[in-house]
Amino acid sequence: MATVKVHEIELHYVESGRGTPLVVVHGFPLDHTMWQGQLDALSDRFRVIAPDLRGFGQSGVTPGLVTMPRMADDLAQLLDGLSITEPIVLCGLSMGGYVAWQFGLRYRERLAKLILCDTKAVGDTPEAAANRIGLADRVQREGPGFIAETMLPKLFAPATIESKAPCVEATRQVILRTNPKGIAAASRGMAQRPDVTPWLSKFDMPALVLCGQHDVISTPAEMRGFAQQMPQARFVEVAGAGHMSPLERPAEVNAAIRELLSR
Ligand code: MLT
Repeated sequence: MATVKVHEIELHYVESGRGTPLVVVHGFPLDHTMWQGQLDALSDRFRVIAPDLRGFGQSGVTPGLVTMPRMADDLAQLLDGLSITEPIVLCGLSMGGYVAWQFGLRYRERLAKLILCDTKAVGDTPEAAANRIGLADRVQREGPGFIAETMLPKLFAPATIESKAPCVEATRQVILRTNPKGIAAASRGMAQRPDVTPWLSKFDMPALVLCGQHDVISTPAEMRGFAQQMPQARFVEVAGAGHMSPLERPAEVNAAIRELLSR
């Protein structure tokens, strides 16, 4: 198992290919397996690295609270552990996008290009933050089953649920085996994540902002709106996909990523 020690925990990752490092960061409450379509295809030209964030997958768990900046620091330490000093391409989906924003703010010099998939720039409303605290408490009492039931219909477009049942089932299994303490800590961390809207103009590297046509969590209208405030961002709507566009429509997403990487 490939791991790098970051502070007190082991951070697990998988990697494939050689070339410019492309770090892909999963959403909540998932793990690196959501990027299999990118690990398989994009490793022909890139070194694709897919970590499990702190508290998820096979990485170590920190109970209590794990903030998005903490997770961004973990990514920087992962790069150090892999002796990667050149600027990377960073791709984050949803919570992975929240981490990518923080990485960009803290380690601008380590970031060559940015890919934001199905994510938000704004922070939580007080109501949304309170819901996350409630979820954190409940998952520790009951386990992640209720999260799988409520989230899966929002993660995937209805057509994906029909046509890619094994993929949806695999995602359910990932959620069910995730450590409740890891889920709770990240949920509390997302509740207090900052609004990055005031800093959008600082994200002046070549960027791709990508959103599933049927994403109901971070909508195309919302993502197109913040992409317009980033100096070099291209917005791409992925036809037929929901919130999990890289998993639902890997060929279309990979084509958009290749276009950014060749820019
Ligand atoms: C995710 O997919 O990571 C979540 O939808 C993020 C969130 O709950 O804001």
